Amino acid sequence: MDITTTTGATIPTPSLATSSRRRLVLLPYPLQGHINPMLQLASILHSKGFSITILHTRFNAPDPTNHPHFNFMPIPGVAEENLPVSGTDNLIRLMRYLNDEGLGPIRGCLEKLLSEDAGVASLITDAQWFAVQTIADGLELPRIVNWTTSVSAFLSFSAVPILRQMGYFRRLSDDMKSEALVTGLEPLKVRDVSRFLTSDPEGAGELMELLVQGMKPAQAIIWNTFKELEELQLPNLTRGFPNRHFMIGPFHKYFPALSSSLLTQDKTCMSWLDKQEPNSVLYVSFGSLAGVEESEFLEIAWGLANSKQSFLWVVRPRSVKGSEWLEALPNGFLERIVKERGYIVKWAPQLEVLAHRSIGGFWTHNGWNSTLESICEGVPMICSPSFADQLPIARNVSDVWKIGVELKNGFERAEIESAIKTLMVDKKGLEMRDRIMNLKEKVNLCLKKGGSSYSSLEDLASYILSS
Ligand code: UDX
Repeated sequence: MDITTTTGATIPTPSLATSSRRRLVLLPYPLQGHINPMLQLASILHSKGFSITILHTRFNAPDPTNHPHFNFMPIPGVAEENLPVSGTDNLIRLMRYLNDEGLGPIRGCLEKLLSEDAGVASLITDAQWFAVQTIADGLELPRIVNWTTSVSAFLSFSAVPILRQMGYFRRLSDDMKSEALVTGLEPLKVRDVSRFLTSDPEGAGELMELLVQGMKPAQAIIWNTFKELEELQLPNLTRGFPNRHFMIGPFHKYFPALSSSLLTQDKTCMSWLDKQEPNSVLYVSFGSLAGVEESEFLEIAWGLANSKQSFLWVVRPRSVKGSEWLEALPNGFLERIVKERGYIVKWAPQLEVLAHRSIGGFWTHNGWNSTLESICEGVPMICSPSFADQLPIARNVSDVWKIGVELKNGFERAEIESAIKTLMVDKKGLEMRDRIMNLKEKVNLCLKKGGSSYSSLEDLASYILSS
């Protein structure tokens, strides 16, 4: 008999006779937006009868008490302390450092695991651990990649060499505003691509190439998406990457009560949401990495104030340049605007928030987790992408799926006010809500018996057992 989760997702029951003796080693990339999907995947595969070992850095280590069924193995001698992750330059440095300094220690851990347990079936790594493929090859251990963002983002990353040759990363001011489509990568616009790799285009471009090349020799790729959402892109994907592909997402729908949050979620906002009218609150959050200048923060605050709509706003400590938390808010903002119709937290229980009946819109940076979570709850979006995959994701949200409003001029109070009104009160906003509710229905179907993700998960389990 299959297991049905509280969200209605159906998980095919494991064939314990074979799978319970099989161990999978999972290597998450140590950032919140990557840890969440990898630990969700671990739970999904555990429910299929696999034993799970999580190999992790001490920096941003997952909390083992949240996952009592898994073994955890810290990687010694690499990323032992907190590392700076604000700004794309730091993110690029982190990826280089981990793929360089991390290799020896990771090899040591894998050798130990393999010597202690002959039943290790596969190594599943985040795509950002691209250099680990050489270790897996050396140990003759099948490596499967977990790609944690969308297919369209992947195709944009894989086009980086051509885009570089075409000179798209010059960040010319005309390019930054250009609405022209990028040939072969539609619906991407020149303005998206020129901001794609932000402050170190060459360095980031090289890394993107390594990351994509690192996926080619992998045995298979697991996607946190569902076929019906990205169907148009699939022929391009399979043409360029003939690996086995398993689209089994959205991962978080299988066990929604699981948490792998690195920060403490402030749940006091839930009782505030309980007091609000249905669909009346705008949820505002830009994920775990994006930061803003003080001037942008002020524009956001004024946009929220002038829109006259209620809002729940996540402001991470130190996410406003030069401030500890809320010091830069305009005088009277907390006493008047927030007291009357707002709530501000440092970190929210986002899945619960998006599922709350009072939430009518999500102003997001379009990280893939946030975007998928919004789709799953039928909440239309305002798009403020900051870097990398967020740009192609936002382009799909606004121009292809038509479930969100794009902010074209960054953070500018008049445009913000108008976008909030469009989303929360206009007919256009209602149409977006209808379209995203339709996608939400497709999510529910793909996870049920016979649905695309359900079947793909069955295939994945059989594939791992047979390889
Ligand atoms: C990063 C990249 O920036 C993103 O582009 C990529 O797709 C994944 O890795 P991040 O910026 O943190 O992730 O965004 P996102 O992918 O949306 O992940 C944030 C996660 O944190 C989500 O799962 C969200 O539910 C959670 N979250 C966010 C909270 O639990 N509380 C909050 O207040 C905000």
